[in-house]
Amino acid sequence: MGVCNVSWWKIGRNWIIVKITQILPPGRIKNALLRHIGVRIGKRVFISPDVIIDPIRPELIQIDSNVLIGWGARLFTHMITEWNGKEKCNAAHIHIKKNAFVGGYTTIRPGVTVGEGAFVGSDSLVIHDVGDGEKVFGIPARVR
Ligand SMILES: CC(C)(COP(=O)(O)OP(=O)(O)OC[C@H]1O[C@@H](n2cnc3c(N)ncnc32)[C@H](O)[C@@H]1OP(=O)(O)O)[C@@H](O)C(=O)NCCC(=O)NCCS
Repeated sequence: MGVCNVSWWKIGRNWIIVKITQILPPGRIKNALLRHIGVRIGKRVFISPDVIIDPIRPELIQIDSNVLIGWGARLFTHMITEWNGKEKCNAAHIHIKKNAFVGGYTTIRPGVTVGEGAFVGSDSLVIHDVGDGEKVFGIPARVR
């Protein structure tokens, strides 16, 4: 029993590691811990404090080199679409391409690709892919 066919044990272990990374400063130790639970992280990736990496399917996240993830951002790879005793769960990759910026307290939903050098403003809800070099913000995030 668990969520999205992932055991409570594994979710719990991942969550403890994510919580530890939330209080660590950006850097190699933090990135190594996140790689340990399956996140693919490139070089010189700067993950701010309080970022939530989905503990249920962290291995579906890829963050390329030179990316900055802002304070408190949330990267969710799973989505529960029905409950009522019969859980329906969708999970999909998140890919943040090189040189992109994800603003503080922004949420990235499952299935989204943030393009190379893209800029996502703070407090946004990213539902759709962001093109290379695009600047988006707001709820939902779009070019404004
Ligand atoms: C998106 C961003 C780059 C826009 O900056 P900008 O181009 O200077 O734009 P402005 O501040 O002039 O704002 C332009 C309009 O967009 C709105 N706006 C700006 N940022 C917004 C955001 N994140 N969400 C919703 N609306 C936003 C402004 O209210 C303004 O609206 P108005 O014209 O109706 O008054 C900037 O607001 C931002 O979010 N930067 C990232 C900050 C961050 O994440 N810091 C933490 C890092 S750890």
